Amino acid sequence: MDQNELKRQVAKAALSFIDDDCILGVGTGSTVNCFIDALAQSGIRIEAAVSSSDESTRRLQDIGITVVDLNTAGPLDLYIDGADEFDANRYLIKGGGGALTREKIIAEAARRFVCIVDQSKKVKVLGKFPLPVEVIPMARGLVARKLVALGGQPELRENFTTDNGNLILDVHNLDLVDAAGMERKINNIPGVVCCGIFALRKADTVLVSSESGIQRF
Ligand code: 5RP
Repeated sequence: MDQNELKRQVAKAALSFIDDDCILGVGTGSTVNCFIDALAQSGIRIEAAVSSSDESTRRLQDIGITVVDLNTAGPLDLYIDGADEFDANRYLIKGGGGALTREKIIAEAARRFVCIVDQSKKVKVLGKFPLPVEVIPMARGLVARKLVALGGQPELRENFTTDNGNLILDVHNLDLVDAAGMERKINNIPGVVCCGIFALRKADTVLVSSESGIQRF
């Protein structure tokens, strides 16, 4: 089974978490795109969605779903999103698509965060995937030096601006054995908008697709 089929399967499995007429938080990425396609075909009626990116907003609107601002929606029952890595604690690295800040905001606002991934995203310790850090443009150099001091090797994501008008530093070789500790340290650097470690607000459920079906952690 190829990876796209695994993404489609886990996306479909996430539909069972949705209550009719809810306001649903929707993430960003290729797995979430499969989820939006599956939602369109499911016949499930939701009241509206809160979206983590301009791309997901466009896709949701294309299938007739109203997208509302988080301030209008208030607390959400459910947020569904993918990840670049997950571990046995349900800690995640996110931000491969550059939408990490809005993703973290929606995850925090949601009572339940269901993460949908295929088995290739599973790791023992986070950090093989370079950690995305969203940075205010004027602080790019300062933040990069601080990340080097923390043991990482930051690399500016070329030709990329986030939906919030900021830059992304992709940080290689950080030691993320203490993922929550590193999340706090990076959050504390002036100029950092958000880092892609989701440990302080981890996933509540991770759905993982593999050749042998869907597993739930
Ligand atoms: C976007 C994200 C995505 O969830 C993450 O990059 C996984 O994407 P994909 O489903 O395409 O593998 O965090 O910012």
